[in-house]
Amino acid sequence: MKVILKQLKELIDPKLPLVSNLSNASSVLNQLPNINWCGFYLAMGERLYLGPFQGEPACTMIPFDKGVCGYAARSKKTVIVDDVNKFDGHIACSTLSKSEIVVPIIKDNEVKALIDIDSPIYNRFNDEDATLLEECAKLLKELFS
Ligand code: SME
Repeated sequence: MKVILKQLKELIDPKLPLVSNLSNASSVLNQLPNINWCGFYLAMGERLYLGPFQGEPACTMIPFDKGVCGYAARSKKTVIVDDVNKFDGHIACSTLSKSEIVVPIIKDNEVKALIDIDSPIYNRFNDEDATLLEECAKLLKELFS
């Protein structure tokens, strides 16, 4: 999946608006196999707002104290959920989603956004995915002020 990092590096241009870069980034991430949703939530205050994504329409606002996304934003850590039904407070945007990974994009110790990816199969995400997406997050953090 090194190709994803390579493509992101080639596509990202800090001179472009954030929305343009994240739109293309969501398209690149959508090449990951066995996923049904991937995209970004942008942190504003203690809330997460839906950003560019690929997939079905999703929740437009998630408070920091709700859902897998809120948990990742609070803990500032990557969260892998093998079975979304077993995560207390999971927000189901799609009944298709069975497992999920959320990776915070952190700059100056502040969560700027999240990468959120859902899969229609259980146990889809592992440490390798986490490492890849954390590398993506490192690249993408440069787009935030
Ligand atoms: N499942 C997430 C909500 C966002 S959707 O997956 C796109 C959560 O529990 O925070």
